[in-house]
Amino acid sequence: MKYTTGLIGTVLSLAVFASASPLTTRQASSIPRLGGVNIAGFDFGIDTNGGSSGGYVPPPTSQFAHFQSKGANIFRVPVGWQYLQPSLGGSLDSNFLSQYQNTVNVALATGAYVIVDVHNYARRDGGIIGQGGPSNDQFANLWSQLASTFNNPKIIYGIMNEPHDLDMTQWAQSVQAAVNAIRSAGSTSQYILMPGTNYASVDQFQQNSGQYLQVVTDPAHSGSTDYLLYDVHRYLDANYAGQLQECVRDDVAVFTAFADYLNQNNRYGILSETGGGNTQSCVQYLGNALSYVKSAYPHFLGFTTWAAGSFDTSYNLTETPNADGSDQLIFTGAVQPNLP
Ligand SMILES: *[C@@H]1O[C@H](CO)[C@@H](O)[C@H](O)[C@H]1NC(C)=O
Repeated sequence: MKYTTGLIGTVLSLAVFASASPLTTRQASSIPRLGGVNIAGFDFGIDTNGGSSGGYVPPPTSQFAHFQSKGANIFRVPVGWQYLQPSLGGSLDSNFLSQYQNTVNVALATGAYVIVDVHNYARRDGGIIGQGGPSNDQFANLWSQLASTFNNPKIIYGIMNEPHDLDMTQWAQSVQAAVNAIRSAGSTSQYILMPGTNYASVDQFQQNSGQYLQVVTDPAHSGSTDYLLYDVHRYLDANYAGQLQECVRDDVAVFTAFADYLNQNNRYGILSETGGGNTQSCVQYLGNALSYVKSAYPHFLGFTTWAAGSFDTSYNLTETPNADGSDQLIFTGAVQPNLP
């Protein structure tokens, strides 16, 4: 357990400890160190403006047992909002839901945690949630239905992938609406992932996102925020976007600043996207990054890398196993050595 020493950190830790129940603190730290892979495909066709082309591709469910056998204990399964709920406020689409739910159930059957990740960039068809697009009530309605449907204790609610270009004070209110809906639906024991802005960037998280998200409360755990995890992303290529085959930084200093923030404020966080090309530079830099994240447990709970699932083996960041069952270089060289 790594704590930053120094007067300010000590005072903050004591203040939080005094107001939090020791029981909930112990429960949160009992979550294991997490490591695994994004199994993408149910999100395909959703763009960064929350638009939908309809082109989802259900991922091969054989990958869950494959990666579990290599040591993964968590999977993130992205999904498009429009596919789940064709009309705002309406019921979930039963045909689509059964496909997505069957996939999640295969993942849960391995014993792993599963992040249900709504992959919509805080948007739907160009409109920002609570900021001119879907209302907070409509967003809460989605999460109420998802929480009722996915209520296994090992489900983690990824309420939104990569918000960007929005007002963080208002976004925190949208996040609170989703948290309240999940708890009201009876899903009280599960972890909830709260993403900040700049595509959930871990860089300068406190200033850009943490100072706003810290006001969100958990109605199921009065006085504790241990079940509200900060959800961050980071790519190590030259444009920070996770598109290029080469990596140019390990960003351990950026991850360290985030871990220090978690420790000093008695919060927990997870890196739900990072990745790299199948190149020596990414094996080195991503390996360094994941090794650091692993070392920063328990406040930094772990990671899910991008990505396997329906990506073919020619995708720049592919972790999809080859047809002969062998793994990609980035998985064997950087991910697998840092799994729990
Ligand atoms: C894949 O990586 C190469 C080399 O870094 C880059 O030129 C190309 O644009 C990338 N492809 C995509 C779709 O981003």
